[in-house]
Amino acid sequence: MCGIVGFTGARSAAPILLDGLKKLEYRGYDSAGIAVMDGPAISVVKVKGRIASLCERTDGGQNVSGVTGIGHTRWATHGAPTEENAHPHLSNDGRFAVVHNGIIENYVSLREELMSEGYRFESETDTEVIVHLIEKYYRGSVREALVRTANRLQGSYALGVICTEETGRIYAVREASPLILGIGAGENYFASDVTALVPYTRNVIYLEDGEFAELSAESVRIFDCTGQEVRRKVSRVMWDVQAAEKGGYEHFMLKEIMEQPAAVKATIAPRIRNGRIEIEEIGGILSGLGDIRSIVITACGSAYYAGCAGRYALERLSGIPVRTELASELRYSDPLIDGHTLVIVISQSGETADTIAALKECRDRGARTLAVVNVVGSTVARLADSTVYTWAGPEIAVATTKGYTTQVAVLYLLAVCFADRLGRLPEGESGPVESLQALPRRIQQAIDMNPGIPALAGKYHESRALFFIGRNTDYAAALEGALKMKEISYLHAEAYAAGELKHGTIALIEEHQPVIALCCNRALMEKTLSNIVEVKSRGAEVLALTFRNNQKILSAADDLLFIPEVDPLFSAAVEIVPLQLLAYHVARENGCDIDKPKNLAKSVTVE
Ligand code: F6R
Repeated sequence: MCGIVGFTGARSAAPILLDGLKKLEYRGYDSAGIAVMDGPAISVVKVKGRIASLCERTDGGQNVSGVTGIGHTRWATHGAPTEENAHPHLSNDGRFAVVHNGIIENYVSLREELMSEGYRFESETDTEVIVHLIEKYYRGSVREALVRTANRLQGSYALGVICTEETGRIYAVREASPLILGIGAGENYFASDVTALVPYTRNVIYLEDGEFAELSAESVRIFDCTGQEVRRKVSRVMWDVQAAEKGGYEHFMLKEIMEQPAAVKATIAPRIRNGRIEIEEIGGILSGLGDIRSIVITACGSAYYAGCAGRYALERLSGIPVRTELASELRYSDPLIDGHTLVIVISQSGETADTIAALKECRDRGARTLAVVNVVGSTVARLADSTVYTWAGPEIAVATTKGYTTQVAVLYLLAVCFADRLGRLPEGESGPVESLQALPRRIQQAIDMNPGIPALAGKYHESRALFFIGRNTDYAAALEGALKMKEISYLHAEAYAAGELKHGTIALIEEHQPVIALCCNRALMEKTLSNIVEVKSRGAEVLALTFRNNQKILSAADDLLFIPEVDPLFSAAVEIVPLQLLAYHVARENGCDIDKPKNLAKSVTVE
């Protein structure tokens, strides 16, 4: 939702904070600010708008002196995106500055309490209560004030704090929002995401919930919520800086689309051994697989659509009934889930509030939980019984692409692995494993087979609405294709199960209405073809996604997108690729801010 950074060392802090904020800008980008301590004085600079404006205002950080500081990039929740509401927030006595990512749920009552005690509020944010509480509880030790403050807060927070009484020190506090410490040589850092740290250090510590850290240039100390010092292991980040750079592409989204063959290979290849799927991380789940009577997949947004795409293979191959539920619905649905249910929770960031709540709800009902996550050490990964990482590398564009395909790939792996362990793969049956092994190649082919997408974008970019239709796995891919189109191009796009058209939606079909028809399942081809004929006879322009040699569809459609022929159980991860490219080029034609679409943020840590 927001991104925070902190630095302490011997170098000028502001340029390092700004650099870190640029890496975190995908988390929120409506206002930003830094607070830097120079001796006992704190300078605060805030802007409404992007980090670029903050850089301009501070001359790239050159006109803010000091070697210790904190920074914030905001996605507004409480209070409009204005300079007053931008972080850092200062205490009334000017001794403390705070940045915050998360939500303070009890801020209204805290605000009333603090106001009645004479504290003056300058913003409409929930965050401001934190800095006044710290001032209220400060009796000469920031650490103690933080413990007392944290005890009063309900909700989620990653905090960065500086205090004029302790020059050269930064404090970081974590509760249900990501926060990682970077351990450097003679300097130390914290950030909401490792992408902000890797240009400076690969040695990191993932703070646990309820912990806080006291960092100076020379030392990093971590304490639990009672103030007891604890030891935490230093982890090494394995990917390099280039992974989080654009690498010559115009946008992160395009780079990430192109990275999909490699990302899916990194997800799949290490888990195939001697022709079998081996997923070490799920040993516990596999040993109890015989007791599982149903599987529930839960997630939000694209991660949910990944679940919809993977559901077919999982159910068909394992023989276990699988249902998908939106996490935001599941958490309030009093679900019929028990110890015989396996709940698969999918999240790229591992920090999505609804997904975390659904996971906790299922865990409380005794379900076994398996997380499919990209961000190492994230909350979802820690809460689940087992975690399978997607190894997609950093995904910076707000609209997910390689995050989604690698999630689908993990579900395919689970499907084949479960089938094998349950004795449902006939002896010597190598087809499914070979299909998975071929997936990265098929995705590359899907990229290469569609050089005409920019021209198609030129034709369709002014459409008022786009309908996506398909059946089964085609429908699942259509859901994600329509979401991609909406979120980055701002065109109205809707996905329908093709058979549902005549139950209402067909009323919207008129002359030149674009309909994107996904036809990548031979068994259902004739059925979708009849839907194409229905919409065409009402004037629609049909852009079909299918195989090169699929003559009937080729002659029925006005325009074409292609994928290589893939087993339909595993085709959604390939079908989505031309649709991602189409959305990308339509958004580009329309001059949209592709990597940072309006009103969105990469990780949705609020309900
Ligand atoms: C869309 C998109 C979102 C996320 C959703 C869940 O492109 O990225 O719909 O998929 O917010 O996020 P994670 O996977 O981080 O839980």
